[in-house]
Amino acid sequence: MENITILGIETSCDETAAAVVVNGREVKSNIISSQIPLHTIYGGVVPEIASRKHIEKINQVIEEALDKADTALEDLDAIAVTYGPGLVGALLVGVSAAKAISYAKNIPLVGVHHIEGHISANYIEHKELEPPFICLVASGGHSHLVRVLDYGKYEILGRTRDDAAGEAFDKVARAIGLGYPGGPKIDALAKEGDAEAIIFPKAKLEDSLYDFSFSGLKSAVLNYLNQCEMKNEPVNTANVAASFQKAVVDVLTEHTILAAKTLGMDKVATAGGVASNSALQKALQLACDAEGLAYYHPSPVLCTDNAAMIGAAGYFEYRNGTRHGLDLNAVPNLKLGERQG
Ligand code: KG4
Ligand code: ZN
Repeated sequence: MENITILGIETSCDETAAAVVVNGREVKSNIISSQIPLHTIYGGVVPEIASRKHIEKINQVIEEALDKADTALEDLDAIAVTYGPGLVGALLVGVSAAKAISYAKNIPLVGVHHIEGHISANYIEHKELEPPFICLVASGGHSHLVRVLDYGKYEILGRTRDDAAGEAFDKVARAIGLGYPGGPKIDALAKEGDAEAIIFPKAKLEDSLYDFSFSGLKSAVLNYLNQCEMKNEPVNTANVAASFQKAVVDVLTEHTILAAKTLGMDKVATAGGVASNSALQKALQLACDAEGLAYYHPSPVLCTDNAAMIGAAGYFEYRNGTRHGLDLNAVPNLKLGERQG
């Protein structure tokens, strides 16, 4: 079979990223310019600053990705770019760059859904993985439980009703003084704490088996911290981190395993920044072993935002016949499975 070489571009949030991917699974280059240190000063992503930084970096990042992969624009079969969901001003930078190259060099353009990218990171990491499987996508912006029916074919089983899992990590981290991004910091601090020390509530939604809710848990942590302050009691932040993390991990694990068992799936994958959480990986590995399910997760660099995952998703979309025109626009609230253009 002929090799399909794709340039992936990702600028939906705070990473400017470009990658060259062959046949959806082989990464030739994966360049990520992170803005995290810049946003840390503000305690979170500032959309206007994100857009400006993307504009400054995008050409350089694309050139580096092509150079490192020893690939010329003429060698590309398609350009895949995230066109939603995300910050509109940030998305527009990647979409405009992709359209400019597509137009100048007459290279097919494939718009990719950001979540589809996260899911596809598993195809890079695990060459043998094929649909169908259940995928838990948990990041700073999303918490979705997805049934991957086929390449590029998804059914959303559940989603968060309020905060995303990563967002809850970030907010709790800020409350206990750890800074942004909170996930990795809570993950590290929790190792020194007792996860059974404080019982935080796990939200159970009466009307849905698979939806999530994290805002009640976040409020419970904030209330606990307030009460300690009022009573002049010292806060053991490691115990708070470990107990909070356990509450999130338990609910993510329970829903994912329930979906796999109920729908008769034998494979479970995770994706998104929270998928690199060590407690979640441990809990899912144990639960999957107990149920006879195979468990997959990408390595940390492919869990958080990157363009290799967009190149991978773009390949399967390209193979399915997806092509976008130069009228492709950024869609900040794009739904998974929804097409535009
Ligand atoms: O996938 P991602 O880079 O961006 C979005 O698409 O949102 O995910 C970033 C999120 C942040 O909220 C970050 O705190 C969280 O993933 N995260 C983690 C860990 N590493 C990153 N959460 C928990 N444990 C981690 N080890
Ligand atoms: Zn993401």
